[in-house]
Amino acid sequence: MPQAPAKLSIEDKVYELPVIIGTENEKAVDIRNLRAQSGFIAYDDGYANTGACESAVTYIDGDAGILRYRGYPIEELAEKSYFIETAFLVIYGRLPGASELTSFRSKILGSALIHEGMRSHFAGFPATAHPMAVLSSMLNTLGCYYPEMVTNDRENDLAHLDTAATMLLSKVRTLTAMAFRVRNGLPIVYPKPAYNYSENFLHMMFSQPYADYPVHPDVAKALDLIFLLHADHEQNCSTSTVRMVASGGANLFASASAGVCALWGPLHGGANQAVIEMLEKIHADGDDGTRFIQACHEGKGKLMGFGHRVYKNYDPRAKIIKAQCDKVLAALGRKDPLLDIARKLEERALSDDYFKSRNLYPNVDFYSGIILRAIGIPTDMFTVIFAIGRMPGWIAQWKEIAENPKQKIHRPRQIYTGETLRKYVPIAQR
Ligand code: ACO
Repeated sequence: MPQAPAKLSIEDKVYELPVIIGTENEKAVDIRNLRAQSGFIAYDDGYANTGACESAVTYIDGDAGILRYRGYPIEELAEKSYFIETAFLVIYGRLPGASELTSFRSKILGSALIHEGMRSHFAGFPATAHPMAVLSSMLNTLGCYYPEMVTNDRENDLAHLDTAATMLLSKVRTLTAMAFRVRNGLPIVYPKPAYNYSENFLHMMFSQPYADYPVHPDVAKALDLIFLLHADHEQNCSTSTVRMVASGGANLFASASAGVCALWGPLHGGANQAVIEMLEKIHADGDDGTRFIQACHEGKGKLMGFGHRVYKNYDPRAKIIKAQCDKVLAALGRKDPLLDIARKLEERALSDDYFKSRNLYPNVDFYSGIILRAIGIPTDMFTVIFAIGRMPGWIAQWKEIAENPKQKIHRPRQIYTGETLRKYVPIAQR
């Protein structure tokens, strides 16, 4: 049924603006012609009320704590699927058939090698380089080795999309492991055909030339789950960046590289690193969380891994990850005092008026860091793990932009608050 337009009254005029309704009944006022009609623009610093696109990849209902990839609930995918199958779903919009999945997996396995020329790029980074800086540079550099895929000619880049997608899914894993190995002076390890994606990642990170890393199935499963839970999350900071870069016509490698940079910050993907650093500090200070919660009340601290722009309820991914924590620690025969602190902090925050009144619940990063730490991933590589997981989403969202013939370049407006017209004063008169 056609929806009645919204009416906006400004000064002495009323403007009619079309209403758009999404498949999950999400409602929007279409202001695309607002400026042309009225001379006014919409102001929405932080974009909390702005739909920047139509997208069919991921649905989130933040009030109800719902997350679905291509219509499938995250809980069901976490239980029944695995990262590579979910990656196919996210990118192509449907679950793969058996032969499609086999071919997708073997293409990913077959794309794992990195051009030998790129080793010298690794050698140029100091040992102190942050892995997110290394990854972002390397993803963009990767494009230099496949010029036929990075022409910035939409039709051509789209014709290579299937190859570019499997390459990125595979090589982001190799590049991450390489960053770790080179930094630690270890030889590069390439994947084994018998291992799945996550098993191979652990193998490439931790095997020695004289002994394979013993991959524990529960550990590989937990890592796979972390990848799967991060596969997409609609228009967050890094994905919006990927779409922004892509909207100018840039290729997939450049857009994904920009996504890594946007993910890095502690308010976004960097939160998993920040959570562990916070828990370590609380532990080192001999605090059981009480003083830290008090500092939050006074605006002097932030409980990293809590709160979310969209979820005003429990992040469904946090529930799934939390359940995995005990399994991984048991599989590895470890106890972690930080997990006890995390549990106490969560318990307190959930019954604390400051957090309750602001709808602050644990997000996916609150517990994922504890699993990654138990596996032996260095803290400064946690956000890189997030980037590996997010790659299918970035590819899918790049594809939506590239396949849309009506796509406009993203170019927000602003409210100028600087000086009005001034007259230049020669230096001798100042
Ligand atoms: N700890 C303490 N107080 C918080 C927290 C927190 N983690 N998060 C928000 N608040 C408070 C703010 O200080 C503000 O309080 P006020 O109303 O008294 O000023 C109120 O809650 C609203 O917070 P905003 O910052 O306006 O919420 P916004 O939606 O802009 O931010 C964000 C969301 C960035 C995730 C924020 O909650 C945060 O910084 N959390 C910690 C970092 C984090 O975990 N990020 C990961 C997000 S998930 C992801 O990217 C995978």
